[in-house]
Amino acid sequence: MNAHDHKGPKILLGVTGGVAAYKSPELVRRLIEQGAQVQVVMTRGAREFVSPLTFQAVSSRRVRDDIWDSEAEAAMGHIELARWADLVLIAPATAHCLGSLANGLADDLLSTICLATTAPIMLAPAMNHVMWRHPAVQANKQLLEQRGARFLGPATGSQACGEEGPGRMLEPEQIVAAVFEEPARLASQSLKGLTVVITAGPTREPIDPVRYVTNRSSGKMGYALAHAAQQAGARVVLVSGPVALTPPPGVERVAVETAEEMYASVHEQIGTADLFIGCAAVSDYRPQSRAAQKIKRNAEEMSLALVRSPDTLASVAALDDGPFTVGFAAETQDVIGHARGKLTGKGVDMMAANLVGPRCGFDQETNELTVLWNGGEVQLDQAPKAMLAQRLIALIAERFHAVRGSDSAAPQTGTPVS
Ligand code: PMT
Repeated sequence: MNAHDHKGPKILLGVTGGVAAYKSPELVRRLIEQGAQVQVVMTRGAREFVSPLTFQAVSSRRVRDDIWDSEAEAAMGHIELARWADLVLIAPATAHCLGSLANGLADDLLSTICLATTAPIMLAPAMNHVMWRHPAVQANKQLLEQRGARFLGPATGSQACGEEGPGRMLEPEQIVAAVFEEPARLASQSLKGLTVVITAGPTREPIDPVRYVTNRSSGKMGYALAHAAQQAGARVVLVSGPVALTPPPGVERVAVETAEEMYASVHEQIGTADLFIGCAAVSDYRPQSRAAQKIKRNAEEMSLALVRSPDTLASVAALDDGPFTVGFAAETQDVIGHARGKLTGKGVDMMAANLVGPRCGFDQETNELTVLWNGGEVQLDQAPKAMLAQRLIALIAERFHAVRGSDSAAPQTGTPVS
């Protein structure tokens, strides 16, 4: 079969300038054996190690290595390549490459594609072990992981420089296994054609013109979910409380402030929604009245009368012919018990039990979840929120297709998610 004819996942393989680049033609061969279409993009450094002709021979595609190539830009430009890819895999990824990506640089074709793509990015680093351990490299790795990039390796062992330590690129077969073991990432269209409404962040309930009741939600988890759902092919509407985050590219954000505004805004959008994910930390209570002027500190004591806010999630779950509903339950104790109570009490399809503690919950970079539904439970171990969001979206897509039938959207991935 010609490499251009088949329907396998489209992998854009970036090769950067490390000695491990000699293994990358073998990686191309193995990816193609598994049914992938592979487009190689090389950096200037990579060409010092392996000839583009080698990659052209194994991939049956012209290698791209120059952002200033006017002929190639006229045919399949960097934006087109960025859109073409189901996955961007960079192997080897040098320290320089990680630094460029972490800082959003676009000084060559590969880094420009990485900025312009909405496809998941996987990185197989390769460098000297002292470089790998350098705080700058580790900080870049952490930042990239927070944004959803997945690191494959490096392995520990003897290095080209003669020293021992972490920094060896994984073997091609290990990289291929990792790429194909997460089909949710490759079948990144698991929510194609669906509309997903997601709530995120806190709400603010005004007391007077300068004070409000709120909570510690940063919006990071909800925004990560919006990004992951968008990457999975969905149209995403993000109804967001006040947070200091930029909406992910391609996501429609509706900014709200109070629980009542969130309720109204969600109900305006919900008619077209196939899925609803309530990740917001909505204020359960709001001040009964809002003072028109700033309250003065004259009284020795004062009390604030609060009334219950409308429950957006429960109201969406109660709709006739409503969307598939997923809630979150952030708890400090008896997490699973409370979450199960909310699963049935609010009548939702799935509930993500979210322990609040060190490195998980409100305003943390990482999180962990136990996802519950009637007759099922899956643990999603601690990970950066971007990564966890991808796993949760894969699981939601799987449950959605199982419950609503295969004609409701893109095919199931059948991925066991844990
Ligand atoms: O924003 P981050 O800093 O990243 O933190 C993420 C998070 C911890 C806020 C998030 O992962 C999370 O757990 N969100 C739910 C917070 C919560 O405490 O929810 P709850 O137990 O009060 O409510 C249960 C569910 O009902 C939630 O889906 C909530 O969105 C929804 N709800 C609650 C009250 C209300 N009036 N309307 C609602 O829709």
